[in-house]
Order: sequence, then C-alpha cells, then structure tokens
Amino acid sequence: MCGITACVGDDDVVETVLAGLENLEYRGYDSAGIATLDGDGVSVLKRGGRIGDLSAEAADRGIAGRIGIGHTRWSTHGAPTRENAHPHTDCAGGVAVAHNGIIENHADLRAELSAAGHEFDSETDTEVVPHLIEEALATGDSPEEAFRRAADRLEGSYAVAALIAGHEGVLATRRGSPLVLGVDEEGGRRFLASDVPSFLEFTSRVVYIEDGDVVRIGPDGHEIATADGRPADRDAETVSWSPEDAERDGYDHYMLKEINEQPAALERAIRGRIADDGSVDLADFPSGSFADVSEVHFLACGTSYHAAVYARQLLRDRGVPAHAFSGGEYATTPPPVDEETLVVAVTQSGETADTLASLRSAGRRGARTLAVTNVVGSTAAREADDALFIRAGPEIGVAATKTFSSQVAVLVLLTELLAADVTGSPSDDRDAVLEALGRLPSAVGTVLSESGARLLARRYVDGDDGRFFIGRGVGYPVALEGALKFKEITYEHAEGFAAGELKHGPLALVTPNTPVLAVFTGRHDGKTLNNVQEVRSRGAPVIGVAGEGSDHVANGVDEFLPVPDVHPDLAGVLANVQLQLVSYHVADMLDRSIDKPRNLAKSVTVE
Ligand code: F6R
Repeated sequence: MCGITACVGDDDVVETVLAGLENLEYRGYDSAGIATLDGDGVSVLKRGGRIGDLSAEAADRGIAGRIGIGHTRWSTHGAPTRENAHPHTDCAGGVAVAHNGIIENHADLRAELSAAGHEFDSETDTEVVPHLIEEALATGDSPEEAFRRAADRLEGSYAVAALIAGHEGVLATRRGSPLVLGVDEEGGRRFLASDVPSFLEFTSRVVYIEDGDVVRIGPDGHEIATADGRPADRDAETVSWSPEDAERDGYDHYMLKEINEQPAALERAIRGRIADDGSVDLADFPSGSFADVSEVHFLACGTSYHAAVYARQLLRDRGVPAHAFSGGEYATTPPPVDEETLVVAVTQSGETADTLASLRSAGRRGARTLAVTNVVGSTAAREADDALFIRAGPEIGVAATKTFSSQVAVLVLLTELLAADVTGSPSDDRDAVLEALGRLPSAVGTVLSESGARLLARRYVDGDDGRFFIGRGVGYPVALEGALKFKEITYEHAEGFAAGELKHGPLALVTPNTPVLAVFTGRHDGKTLNNVQEVRSRGAPVIGVAGEGSDHVANGVDEFLPVPDVHPDLAGVLANVQLQLVSYHVADMLDRSIDKPRNLAKSVTVE
C-alpha cells in the first residue's frame, strides 16, 4: 500500500534509495519515483511501472545526491501514471514529498490552495502537501516550521517524507501509517522507511517513530520531536531479522521460498512456548492472565481472517464464546463489548488500516485488546494493550503463506491458554494438541518434500468454470484460504465454502469443469464425503486433501493429496500447505506475477 524510503549519507545515496524501494516493492508496484537534493535544488525522477525501470532510467540520466527520498505506489487516488507517481512537488519545484496513506481532507485543501494560485499536476491526495509546505515557506517559516505547519493541516492517515531545497536533510512524520528510522552509525547513514526490510541490508538498528513525531535525518544524524515540538528520546532497537531472511535464496519466487520456510517459521513460533509440564508458556501471559475474559472477538482481514476463523473454531470447541469479524466491518457495525471482552487483532503486518480501525474502536469502548502480529514495533503491537508475536520472519511475497501457519500455531497456544483460564480447566485435547504442535514443523516438512501438488496442478490447470474449495470445522477456514490464495495468484475464479453450504445455492454452478478441492481434517469427514458425493454426481472432479491413513477419503474422491496423520485440530495447517502448493504451481504454469499479483499490495494501510 505504497512504500516510502529515504536515505542521507556521506556519499551518493541514489542506489541505496533505489535498493530500499526494491525491498519495499511488495507494498505497491504500479509506479515509482525518487527525489534527490542536488546542490541547493531538488531533482525528481518518476514513472509508471516497476522500480527496475526507474533504476535503469536513473542510471541513464546519472541522477545523484547525498540526500534522497523514494516512493513505490499502489494507487488509491488516480491511475498509475507518471503524473500521479510520487514524489510530488510544489509550484516552484523546491519541495518534494512522498506519502503513504490517505489524506481525507485533500479536496478542501486543494480547493483552498488552488484559490491561492497553486497549480496541481496530478489527481492524488498527496499533492496538497508540497503546496502547503510552499505556502508556509512563503510566510517566512523555516523548513521545519513549514513542514510541521503543513502536517498539522492533514486529516486521515499518513506517513510523509519531504525534501525542501536549501534544507540539508529529510523531514518526515506519521499519523496512522507506519514509519521507521534506520540508524547506521558506522556507515554514517540514516534511513527512513515504511517498513524495516527496506534498509535491513544496511542496518538492523531501528527506531520506531510514534504517531505525531516529526523526525529529521541529516548528514549530522537524526532528531525526533514530539507532536508538540519537544525533543523526543526514542531508543534504537536491534531487529532480529537478518538480511538473508529477506532474500530469495535461489528460489524462483519469494512465495515458494516462504512456503518452504514454514517448518523453520513454525519452530520459531512455538519455541519455548510449551512448558515441561505440557502447559502453554506464553511468557507475558502466565496462567490466569485471561481469567476474567468472558468472550473473545477476533478481528482480521484476508488470510489473517482465515487464521482468526481457525482459532474461533478451536475456542468454540473448547467452550469459550468466540467470534471472528472482518476487520473492515467491525468498526462499522460494532458489537457490544465490555472489559470482559478480549479483542484479538490478528495481523501479519500490524499495519492493516481496517483491522487497526476496529481495534481502536474496541479499545475505546472498553474492551481488552491483544495484537497477534509478526512485526515488533508495528502499530497494532504498540496500540493494543498486549502483543503476541508469531516470529515468522519477514514475508515478502504478497500472498501470505508462512505467516498463516505461524498465526495458527500461535493461536493454538493462545486458545489452550484461554480455554484453561476461561473455563477453569485445561481442554480435554490440550496435551494431545500441544504434543502434535511440537511435531507440526516436521509434518509440514514431510508435506513439502512429498507433495504431489505439482503434478496435480498440471492436470487441473484448466478449470473453465472456476474451482471450489470446501471444508468443515477447521477445514472451513482452510477452504477459504485455499480459494483466496488461488484467486490471488492465478487470477482464476475460485470460491471457498463451508462444505455443507454448497447444496444451499452454489451447487448450481458446479459442472464437470469445476474442480472441487475438499479439505478433510479427521473430524466430520463422513459429512464432508456426503458433500463430495453431491458434487461428483454433477460430474465435478474432486481432489481430497486428508491424512494419509484416511482410506475412506482416498476411496471417495477422484484425486488424493495426502498429508501426515496429525491431531484433527492441526490437520488444517497441513492441508493448507498442499493447497498453497497447488495454487503456486497453477500460477507458475499460467506464468502469473506470483510475488506481486496484479492490483494487490502486501500491506493495506487505507480503509
Ligand atoms: C492474502 C494476504 C492478505 C492479508 C490481509 C491482511 O494472501 O496477504 O489477504 O492477509 O491484507 O494483512 P495483515 O495480516 O498484514 O493484516
């Protein structure tokens, strides 16, 4: 959802800014641009298309500078043209601004600035910012004052970085959109970015910028001031992600690399979190931490929503009232909450605007809030009462894979803790589930090494009438996730359903050209097999994903994708890995842009 980056150093920073943008390309990739401070003037180069094209043009033109900002865009206001690409400039071309987020009052500001004689070149909301800065500079403000005055006029969510001619540095601020500062003391460089992977190859020292902070990076270091102008002392933290984590490592796609990283990611997710006595050990949440919780609301979007539905099913099985809500809907039609409601935001990035809006709404109304996220220092982690990290490492592929598995693993731990605290005793399944969780990384490894998904994908690459994914219990969110992954990266139609729902309408769409992928977990399999018969008798081929010992399933479907037999509560994670591979291989055969699917961005920071 747009990425901004900036660098100030002793030498030319153009290559560094472009590398930082490449590392953020997963946030948006329909147009890109950079601006440098070149002597006393500002130079801007921007264009539609990918960052590779921008880099080639920057090299051709010999763009240079020791101070630079960059932007990669995922369009919200205006088509992905050169005019709409960032950085945007003021009338005189002395101010350049890169922005992530949405400026909600841009129409009013544009009208006011136009009336004052400012001319606009783009359809974007962002372009008001350089003109506001220009307006303030014209009244005699210093660059910092002008930047701060402009930011004060903005409503909505934003992270903004600006270059101002004559000012030796980059000024930036955030409200609701992410912004991090990278500190490379040795190399004498400072970075600003929407996300840590942007500069991880240069430094792992990070300062998380707070909402309202104004930060300046310059040749002499950095300064941060709070919203009311007081100097802010924010410590740098060392992030544990290594640069290699964010590299492709010989795989054709990040997505395939990340699918294959699932055993290691799961190991990290559960490491040290199962105590010797078999109970859950989530350090910050000792037994009894949730004793006064009466109901759990999960909030999440997309893949994270499917992990949330998975957890909801488990909690309900354990007698804990639980609901999963779409992050985009919860704040619009909020259900009642009180201090006994635990609201859990499940969000890989911790920056999804829909989920954050719902989290804030729940917090304002008195609920206790918890973020389950991959990103330490993310907005969700900082704004929720508590945070629980899934430790999956950076996920670069836009389609979420390893983070789904890690979310489910951590949510399994959380559900067992909640079940014990809320009902007063551990669930009947706790010991068996936690024991199976410990073996899950190696079971996923087995799926990865033995999967027949590639061969199957070749046979079913054509499905003229789309594909259906069905499942029951924890197989239901896996069916939803399987369909989401399939449509996201293959651009082919796919839908996920609760297996019992087909007969209530969607069955009308089933033809011999509608392959149906059915998820079996070892619970309710007989009923799911009945639903399978309903589609097979309409001619649809059925691919069953189930435990290798499930002969009844193998005999009742057209194709069988086995996974190791595990506890039914975890079988969905293994089935999901098979479905990830099916989607990946079909997309690869169709030659799709797997890591950066059309129209999508990894981190969606607008509502
Ligand atoms: C799908 C995908 C998205 C995200 C969704 C929420 O592969 O990645 O559906 O799951 O945008 O993102 P987070 O988890 O960052 O809140």
